[in-house]
Amino acid sequence: MSIETEKLLATARKAARNTYSPYSKFPVGAALMTARGKVFTGCNVENASYGLTMCAERVAVLKAVSEGNQKFKALAVVGGRGKAARPCGACLQVLAEFCGPDFPVSFSSLDKPDRIERLTLGDLLPHTFKL
Ligand code: THU
Repeated sequence: MSIETEKLLATARKAARNTYSPYSKFPVGAALMTARGKVFTGCNVENASYGLTMCAERVAVLKAVSEGNQKFKALAVVGGRGKAARPCGACLQVLAEFCGPDFPVSFSSLDKPDRIERLTLGDLLPHTFKL
């Protein structure tokens, strides 16, 4: 496990503390590293109308892109208890807009920080929608 991945996961874990998830009580944190090494974080932000809930991963991507970053190196996601949460399909599709199939995504759950999994965007979303 590279130091970079461990650091990114630690940043995602910290970002999960900012969660606004009174409905699901399911905190998620994300940390997205740009090609230049800058890190943008995200957490899930829920809403009383449920459907307006925004996932941690998309918050991180939208923060990064809206500040002029479109090239990314890696994503870390921390969520779930026991089994680490995986990004949902909507977040994967948004990531696929900017990242290729080899883009690395690492995961860890909230309560088992030493259990780290690594997959690629291609593993998670093999059949991306493209125009
Ligand atoms: N959630 C994320 O933040 N990321 C995902 O990829 C999947 C789900 C959040 C949304 C909601 O606040 C909570 O997890 C339960 O679905």
